[in-house]
Amino acid sequence: MKEKTVYICSNCGQDSPKWIGKCPSCGEWNTYVEEVVRKPVAGTRPLSGLEPVKSKPVILSEITGGDEPRIDMHDEELNRVLGGGLVPGSLVLLGGEPGIGKSTLVLQTVLRLPEKKILYVSGEESARQLKLRADRIRHNSSDCLIACETSLEQIYVNIKNTQPDLVIIDSIQTISTETIESSPGSLVQVRECSASILKFAKQTNTPVILIGHINKEGSIAGPKVLEHIVDTVLQFEGDQHYMYRILRSIKNRFGSTAELGIYEMRQDGLRQVSNPSELLLSQDHEGMSGVAIASAIEGVRPFLIETQALVSSAVYGNPQRSATGFDLRRMNMLLAVLEKRVGFKLAQKDVFLNIAGGLKVNDPAIDLSVISAILSSNMDAEVERDTCMAGEVGLSGEIRPVNRIEQRIGEAEKLGFKRILIPKHNLQGMDTKKLKIELIPVRKVEEAFRALF
Ligand code: TYD
Ligand code: MG
Repeated sequence: MKEKTVYICSNCGQDSPKWIGKCPSCGEWNTYVEEVVRKPVAGTRPLSGLEPVKSKPVILSEITGGDEPRIDMHDEELNRVLGGGLVPGSLVLLGGEPGIGKSTLVLQTVLRLPEKKILYVSGEESARQLKLRADRIRHNSSDCLIACETSLEQIYVNIKNTQPDLVIIDSIQTISTETIESSPGSLVQVRECSASILKFAKQTNTPVILIGHINKEGSIAGPKVLEHIVDTVLQFEGDQHYMYRILRSIKNRFGSTAELGIYEMRQDGLRQVSNPSELLLSQDHEGMSGVAIASAIEGVRPFLIETQALVSSAVYGNPQRSATGFDLRRMNMLLAVLEKRVGFKLAQKDVFLNIAGGLKVNDPAIDLSVISAILSSNMDAEVERDTCMAGEVGLSGEIRPVNRIEQRIGEAEKLGFKRILIPKHNLQGMDTKKLKIELIPVRKVEEAFRALF
């Protein structure tokens, strides 16, 4: 064994024989960390125990298997976020903060998969702990194989002996290979192990799900390197204080990253939330000011979501502005529009904005409800409970058209709303005859204001 010290960029995984301040590959500063690596002597067998395959170029049109069916995970939310099921031979990374429910999500999913042989490798918990969790979830499949193992070599032995259809590794930060003298969870270990697992997945066409922890900065510890290696990165997020958990796809070689899955953490595992509006609308705010409801779209699904604002006179010199679940800069821009175009004096006011349910919404169509919630709180006047809205607000106070308006209107109607404010431009060519909900087309913030209050 040869021992050497390398320096590795903790952002992108670039290595260098000496320490450097700025990474030449990703341009980040101060990201190089020292790691001791023992290289295996030449001629050792590859980690996975598989012989290296000699490959030669093939003609694209002659490649078969492109339409291989995806594996149905028996979980609509997960299937959708994966882009229509799990692709055989793919490597999926599921990241999230400790305690958010990653192990629960994966365990309950694999317990529900019929006729699939699963190998669940846990480097964090004992078999008994896993059993306790499985009991809690109360799914009675018992075909799942559990291995409490942290050595990659040993995991390959287990795989060879059991020939599973799907492998789970919980978590990648606890796994290490003997060929490298570096502690589990270090950059080199994480990189080597996941690269080896990727090779295994591709060669044997076995899908592997890796669970990964997220560090304080919110990136997956053992960092971007991992995100580059794997095919799909899913992130499980949510606020510890809320019951809702959101599954997002950050990278997906086999599908869209616009998808979103919503779950509710219960005493007996995670429940799929197929109708997100039910969670995002609080039941009772009759007579409350500062609340407006938007018909938003994340991924392909429309849902109605509550925006809440609190406007009060600034007690200290500088007014405070804060936004949860919404871009603060965008809120400041909307405040400037209100100030300049509608003549509201908000410069000396504290403004707090909150999107219900701990959700982050990127859909620009919620602008109109943000503005309405702010105005409603400022004037202490209620927006009627049966009214919702969708519309992007431009710099001159115009209400700009939004995409997929029919879906937004449809969802609002389905949930029993009586009126919806929409951008006037969106009316063109729309068939409104069958609609039971009243459409209120608006062109400017002032018009919306008059329609609401
Ligand atoms: P866990 O899956 O262990 O999180 P992770 O693997 O991401 O670290 O989930 C831990 C939390 O979930 C823990 O605080 C207990 C809670 N939980 C429930 O509320 N209901 C359940 O059915 C289960 C299994 C866990
Ligand atoms: Mg866990």
